[in-house]
Amino acid sequence: NQGAVHRANPRGPVVWSHRGASKNAPEETTAAYERALADGADVLEGDLAQTKDGVLVVIHDNTLARTTNVEEVFPDRAPWNVADFTLAEIKQLDAGSWWDPAFAGQQILTLHEWFELNHGRAGLAPELKSPTLYPGMVENLAKELRAWGYTHDLKAKNRAPQIWVQSFDEAGLRQFHALLPEVPTLLLRSGYPFMTASDEVLTELATWTTAVAGNPVQTTASQVRRVQSFGLQVVSEVEDGPSLLSMIEHQGYDYMFTDVPNVAKAVLADK
Ligand code: G3P
Ligand code: CA
Repeated sequence: NQGAVHRANPRGPVVWSHRGASKNAPEETTAAYERALADGADVLEGDLAQTKDGVLVVIHDNTLARTTNVEEVFPDRAPWNVADFTLAEIKQLDAGSWWDPAFAGQQILTLHEWFELNHGRAGLAPELKSPTLYPGMVENLAKELRAWGYTHDLKAKNRAPQIWVQSFDEAGLRQFHALLPEVPTLLLRSGYPFMTASDEVLTELATWTTAVAGNPVQTTASQVRRVQSFGLQVVSEVEDGPSLLSMIEHQGYDYMFTDVPNVAKAVLADK
């Protein structure tokens, strides 16, 4: 029994589409994000890396090998690290066929292209995946966000969609927060220790980060409520099963992470 249902958000958790609708289209491509938007996702999630010529691109891995045809196009450039390729080279790659030939021609997106395709329709949650691998990446992200007005003044005018910057790298996320304190942050940590952290730890976290991540299988509604009582929001780890998604909703999480935004929205619709 998860105790009384505590709804941090009366409409139920906000749905974050993990790498886009990544069970229905090749992750982190225009196809995956357009499907997520069509499925009603409230937020588009993606991971950031940086090219050799310093451009932020949306890709989960630090190499191009798994999600593009880079080994065919550049056979002698192993291990095909993103950091060793220019944007022009990366733009020659097919980021869809690996998943399904029907998606041939999908490309790796730049951060700017990702913002543009979203066109304000949903929130955005870029993750600084490995900031220590990419010199200047955190400053680069802060500069790009400032350039496009993803700061509180435009949000105050409701003209910039909500954005959360997330990372497993606490130092990198703290550095980002110091550069652009008005942009909400989500601190990720494998093992999700935050949900049972001490009052002191939660009090300190709440001085700088907006949200922390939890795993609904390990948490209870009262643990979620306790973390929220320190002024922190709680994001669930990625779940795709309807029963786990409804557990996330019943435990009062603020946001739910899923590869299947259509399933999550259906679960929330019949609460
Ligand atoms: O961004 C949170 C979640 O995506 C962490 O897992 O490896 O899919 O980025 P990963
Ligand atoms: Ca991620």
